[in-house]
Amino acid sequence: MSVELTADSSKRTSFMDDTELIQAAITEARQNAYAPYSGFRVGAALLCEDGRVFLGANVENAVYGLTMCAERVAVANAVTAGCRSFEALAVVADGPTPCPVCGACRQVLAEFGPETRIIMANIAGEVKKAKLKDLLPTAFTNEQLFNEKR
Ligand code: THU
Repeated sequence: MSVELTADSSKRTSFMDDTELIQAAITEARQNAYAPYSGFRVGAALLCEDGRVFLGANVENAVYGLTMCAERVAVANAVTAGCRSFEALAVVADGPTPCPVCGACRQVLAEFGPETRIIMANIAGEVKKAKLKDLLPTAFTNEQLFNEKR
């Protein structure tokens, strides 16, 4: 889902800032998390290079291993809409520290570029920022695949 511009925000000349991304993750995404098993609700808001923002919430399943993280849901929503270049991702949960991005989601984000800024936050208002390449150094990328002689 893309965040729609309201009558007021359509006058916006700049991209959503980090604070707005965190708010969107909380109020537009996390509130719709489906987390009946863990009770741990996560929201994500992904800012693309064209300014559009796509949302994700975690979606759990009775087959626990099929659970989808909020971040990967946001990536899937963006890619489905044609966005493959990401500026920043905000992820928010109600944990004791800013919500870390899990290893699997780091790898999925690495597919679309190491420079993406990751904004981790919790409901208490703590925020931690890092670039994806610093969260997942030496990521496996398609550079490896294209090197193979066929
Ligand atoms: N979860 C996310 O959505 N993102 C993360 O980065 C960490 C974990 C979800 C998966 C599961 O639904 C719940 O949080 C507990 O692990």
